[in-house]
Amino acid sequence: MKISIQKIIQKKGKEKITCLTAYSYPIAKSLDNLVDIILVGDSLAMTIYGEVDTTSANLQMMINHGKAVVRACKRAFVVVDMPINSYENSKETALKNAQKIIEETKCDAIKIEITENLIETTKYLVDNKIMVMGHIGLLPQHVKEIGGYKYQGKDKESAQKIYDIAKKLEKTGIFSLVIEAVPAELASRISQNIQIPTIGIGASLDCDGQVLVIDDLLGLNTEFKPRFVENYENLSQKITTAVENFTKDVRDGKFPTKKNIL
Ligand code: KIV
Repeated sequence: MKISIQKIIQKKGKEKITCLTAYSYPIAKSLDNLVDIILVGDSLAMTIYGEVDTTSANLQMMINHGKAVVRACKRAFVVVDMPINSYENSKETALKNAQKIIEETKCDAIKIEITENLIETTKYLVDNKIMVMGHIGLLPQHVKEIGGYKYQGKDKESAQKIYDIAKKLEKTGIFSLVIEAVPAELASRISQNIQIPTIGIGASLDCDGQVLVIDDLLGLNTEFKPRFVENYENLSQKITTAVENFTKDVRDGKFPTKKNIL
């Protein structure tokens, strides 16, 4: 049965929420029965398109990959990232683009990276019936301004700023909050003091759920390994072995075999 937004909210304090990114039909199909939330992250700019950061993701890319993922999902709750420049300029543009993503992909919710000046826009989206997952802490769309993939909220003042944004966001009516790359103590404090579920990445065991980029989990990404990434498999090595076996068989005249041809 399809996981509802209520089911995700009700998990807080009872059961951990699992979330992974997916960008394609086959991967989403493999994840559908296993995780609660599938995020079509703008990390696809890096994982799929080989860019150095997420700032080249655009609305059309998110819609195309969102459609493929939604097509594969019968059970998981699907969230699609709003890419950079699709929601910051005005709340009206943010709403128009959020509606476009939802209408065209049929996803369940959108995610936005939120700074202080976007709290009003977030409330406007929620007031207009958009299910919003917030994202605070390290904001990858701002990586150029902050000078790289650095932990945020390390000093007292910046930690308090992030905490205050989380408290304000709770009031806007968002249904969940991704907390990326902040000290564990700060992520725990936020998780314990807001009523909506927090989903951590490089945050804390006390978050109500955890998210990873699927390519990192599977060991497909050999170029970028921040501290919070955990490889549960080494698919990159497995691909190399499979392709080496194929090329050897072709060169040795062992492929195709009788069963592969008429
Ligand atoms: O784009 C993405 O994959 C994300 C996750 C890292 C949370 O935002």
